[in-house]
Amino acid sequence: MAPISENLDFDVAIIGSGASGLTVALHLSPDTRIAILSKGELQGGSTNWAQGGIAAVLDEGDTVDSHIEDTLIAGAGLCDEKAVRFIVGHGAEAIEQLANLGVDFTREPDAQGTNRYHLTREGGHSHRRIVHSADSTGHAVEMTLAERVSERSNITVFERFTAIDLIREDQANRRGRCVGFYVFDQEHNRVRALRARVVVVATGGASKVYLYTSNPDSNTGDGIAMAWRAGCRMANMEFTQFHPTCLYHPEAKSFLISEAVRGEGATLQLPDGTRFMPKFDKRAELAPRDIVARAIDHEMKRLGIDCVYLDTTHMSPEFIESHFPMIYARCLRFGFDMTRDRLPVVPAAHYTCGGIMTDLSGHTDIENLYAVGEAAYTGLHGANRVASNSLLECVVMSSAAGDDIRDRLTSIPETPELTPWDESWVEDSDEQIVVTHNWDELRRFMWDYVGIVRTDKRLERAKHRIDLLLSEINEYYSNFTVTNDLLELRNLAVVADLIVQSAMARKESRGIHYNLDHPEHDDSKTPQPTVLTPPAAKA
Ligand code: FAD
Ligand code: SIN
Repeated sequence: MAPISENLDFDVAIIGSGASGLTVALHLSPDTRIAILSKGELQGGSTNWAQGGIAAVLDEGDTVDSHIEDTLIAGAGLCDEKAVRFIVGHGAEAIEQLANLGVDFTREPDAQGTNRYHLTREGGHSHRRIVHSADSTGHAVEMTLAERVSERSNITVFERFTAIDLIREDQANRRGRCVGFYVFDQEHNRVRALRARVVVVATGGASKVYLYTSNPDSNTGDGIAMAWRAGCRMANMEFTQFHPTCLYHPEAKSFLISEAVRGEGATLQLPDGTRFMPKFDKRAELAPRDIVARAIDHEMKRLGIDCVYLDTTHMSPEFIESHFPMIYARCLRFGFDMTRDRLPVVPAAHYTCGGIMTDLSGHTDIENLYAVGEAAYTGLHGANRVASNSLLECVVMSSAAGDDIRDRLTSIPETPELTPWDESWVEDSDEQIVVTHNWDELRRFMWDYVGIVRTDKRLERAKHRIDLLLSEINEYYSNFTVTNDLLELRNLAVVADLIVQSAMARKESRGIHYNLDHPEHDDSKTPQPTVLTPPAAKA
């Protein structure tokens, strides 16, 4: 933890301590004064929970063109091919970079006895190309990067610091470069201003906007909402990816069962043991996630059942225990022995494909504000993300952004003094129930109306409720002192609004956005990303 001083002043401030935030920091010069903030513990984001691995072309029988093609197919016509070529093309380099930093990827001897990376398989990939660290890849990456960061004396880590709003040079008119942000110090219950010449948003995704999610609690889309309020455009926010297989158990809090389990031969079954995926897609259990999640949703609604089942019982106990040790142990704790029992599974919100628009160096619409990782939209994923392309994007794009900041930093002038946070007009709330109630209501209607299958009417209903919530939350925010829950709720409402606005604008079904009133692709025009421009930028 950082010592508390009055003035928070850095060269570069990185909001977020997942794979993307830590990677940016490690690419900067050792004499740059860097702050890394996390609103929980350092390892609190999604990165630490990633299971399957990182997609990269490392097998001699595989090619970069094939990985590009698989990404474009899953993206259903909406990928930016330049971004796909750039990110996929740097895959092998990203793995080497992580391995050099000390990430212990799983290796196995090949037929000639050479110890090579073991490559697993996941949906949408035509080859085995997922590099992994057993079934806890994200933990291995997060811990290794955190260790390297802890060796750098120029980096200060602030845990339990929640960034609230970005500050622009002409803050009153929301114009000019980004010069810092306001941040809530949870331990001392006060808001401070943090000044920096460069700010990097690396706050992860927003799947917590849905009632059921595979994501940790921190994924409330804070960076997306902050960047929107400050004046950045957003793209493709209608594309929330639902992961098909989260454990269905009241205490599991949507514990993920990695797609790699299906990659190694697990099948999806109805309660009576019937395998159903082959009737939906010739790739069966290894079809892209949108198809598998929709098929499960369809079967659950058709039969009125609470879950379907994932069957691994044909795999040898030795294989399960060595390839999926973490999943095996967690399931055992919930009373399921994967070597003998089928696992009850349901889909849950998993990944935010859209986000803050950036170029291939991580620049946003605001000078000196960068965005990387799941919070950003680079164009890689299009209408659907292929498995394990996210950590790849985090590492490649954060390295590019870090290099760009390092090269530009000396030419960026000092920032002005910031106006302190003014709390004189607010008081402590005696109605915390408003926050709790609105949290629950928002996540419930997003799940029911803006989930795996949408309709125009459901979207209209959701929009109506969001408009009410937004005005209620803004009023509450103006009158009462901030708390972490209130800040998150304020951001969730903005993110929900962006998702619904984007979903309403897309009058077709494509990738993970499926609308029963427009069930086909609109082939009358070239597919385009949905771009939203914030009021601050229009003014
Ligand atoms: P995160 O790792 O989510 O980190 C976000 C950080 O931002 C956290 O430190 C958080 O505290 C901080 N933060 C957020 N808001 C604020 C704020 N207001 N103030 C201060 N700090 C803030 N992808 C793959 O490619 N392969 C996989 O195998 C894989 N498996 C997954 C399994 C699970 C269960 C989940 C949930 C995701 C998985 N993903 C996988 C997706 C991938 O893990 C994420 O997309 C990626 O880790 C995002 O990294 P990030 O650095 O952008 O954000
Ligand atoms: C998984 O292991 O199934 C998650 C992979 C991903 O989200 O890319």
